[in-house]
Amino acid sequence: MPRSTSLWLDTTHVYDAPPLETDLSIDVCIIGAGIAGLTTAYLLAREGKSVAVVDARGVGAGETAMTTAHLSCEIDDTFKEIHRLHGPDGARLACESHRAAIDTIERICGEESIDARFERVNGYLFLGEGHKEREIDEELEAARLAGAKVMKLPQADVVGFKSGPCLRFAAQAQFHPLRYLHGLAKACERRGVRIFGSTRAVSASGGAEAIVRTGRGHAIRAQAVVTATNSPFTDLIAIHTKQAPYHTYAIGARVAPGLVTPALYWDTEDPYHYVRLHRSSNRELGGDNDVPVDILIVGGEDHKAGQASDADARFERLERWMRDRFPAAGAVEFRWSGQVMETNDGLAFIGRNPLDADNVYVVTGDSGMGMTHGTIAGLLLTDLILRRANPWAELYDPGRIRSGAAIEWVKENLNVALQYTSWLTKGDTQSVDQITPNNGAVVVEDGRKVAVFRDEKGTLHRRSAVCPHLGCIVSWNPAAATWDCPCHGSRFDKFGTVMNGPAARDLDRGA
Ligand SMILES: Cc1cc2nc3c(=O)[nH]c(=O)nc-3n(C[C@H](O)[C@H](O)[C@H](O)COP(=O)(O)OP(=O)(O)OC[C@H]3O[C@@H](n4cnc5c(N)ncnc54)[C@H](O)[C@@H]3O)c2cc1C
Ligand code: FES
Repeated sequence: MPRSTSLWLDTTHVYDAPPLETDLSIDVCIIGAGIAGLTTAYLLAREGKSVAVVDARGVGAGETAMTTAHLSCEIDDTFKEIHRLHGPDGARLACESHRAAIDTIERICGEESIDARFERVNGYLFLGEGHKEREIDEELEAARLAGAKVMKLPQADVVGFKSGPCLRFAAQAQFHPLRYLHGLAKACERRGVRIFGSTRAVSASGGAEAIVRTGRGHAIRAQAVVTATNSPFTDLIAIHTKQAPYHTYAIGARVAPGLVTPALYWDTEDPYHYVRLHRSSNRELGGDNDVPVDILIVGGEDHKAGQASDADARFERLERWMRDRFPAAGAVEFRWSGQVMETNDGLAFIGRNPLDADNVYVVTGDSGMGMTHGTIAGLLLTDLILRRANPWAELYDPGRIRSGAAIEWVKENLNVALQYTSWLTKGDTQSVDQITPNNGAVVVEDGRKVAVFRDEKGTLHRRSAVCPHLGCIVSWNPAAATWDCPCHGSRFDKFGTVMNGPAARDLDRGA
């Protein structure tokens, strides 16, 4: 049976970060110890700022542990689309900023001696089933205009995969995201950054003195606050109506080294498939020798979060897709999934938090490119906090509205409105007796929707199924064993404890 965990979690230890036990005064308080929060902390510390990072769980406990860690300057939504939405200058700045992010990760790995297996590789965009060559021809032109180093090939110059006509993007990269994050956390601590795990921020306010309050009742006073929680709990609607949560799936299969060329591969489908190789060894995978092994990682099958519960079928489709195209793939060793926040115009929101004080900053809307967007956040927010000009500030401004994004905005918000009809529907199952161990379902009890989880001993755990953000009904996610909100992406663990905003508190007890 494949392991139900990410390759990265399986091959790193937990990073030890103690909880915050006192009040604190600091220059900058960062909420969230994923790639966005820690990169920002690191770069601010290099500029001489005193920084504290608090995380409700721990270093790399969020989506950074679930990524596939492609580092690319080709935008997921395509340069053609970015050009349409943000104009030629916007497309050029997007390309430049993602390229700078990859360079920054490479430089940090070098300067801080982080063995994150950073590797420069080519990226190949190939045609999806039944797609016309015209699609990559148009993308070739848009990518060139944006400044990408790209060329068209009749066939990818790789072994192990017959791509057909494709675009080759030079000097892309890949790495082990948790080895990087742990190295970055150590580099932060060497530079005086204080990192606290098991410390949930329950509120953050700006003004003359910004204050972050924690669930244990401590206050952190700072000159500036950065919310880097992937999906911000500090914003009720301004940002959340402009982005939508999607769930995405990944598998990892053994391949003998040399049979597939290490590279980034992705197709033109929507949702698209994304592929890369991780060079590993039997020992890293839990064996007792150092025989090299490659893991072929294949991702895709995205759907709106909380709106599908057929995880097994999706993993099986991914596997079939992989076997059709990468015949060298061996047994599937890993299956995992996670959430990405798709903005209505294809780029992240990084900058001042809309409708908030001047010294409250946010990074969200990873758009499936959170490794590079998170790193761009570090570079951009450092400049904003130090009151320096930055050429990318307008492009990533969280308050922006692009007229070309209106249709997407309407589509996603209509979808959210539709989710409220689930108040009127029956539960997932008639009786809790039908819930098998390690599973959950929404049931109607005394006219109320209740999220019920049955643990492996058979004990039932009940919470209200009403999301504390804006009242949608959560749904059970069998792949991750979480309760996911279909409206704006709040997530709760199987016992109802909040993991991800915008909800700022747990599912109510007393259901
Ligand atoms: C399957 C999959 C594949 C992906 N592939 C790629 C890829 O190939 N390339 C790419 O660039 N991106 C990819 N992504 C996206 C990328 O992984 C994420 O966008 C990125 O990791 C987000 O980083 P982050 O720092 O913003 O958030 P996170 O890593 O989620 O960190 C946020 C942290 O905030 C903490 N937190 C939340 N609320 C609070 C609170 N109230 N108080 C304190 N702490 C809090 C959480 O515990 C968490 O540790 C992928 C994502 C998935 C799921
Ligand atoms: S995340 Fe908005 S209602 Fe649940």
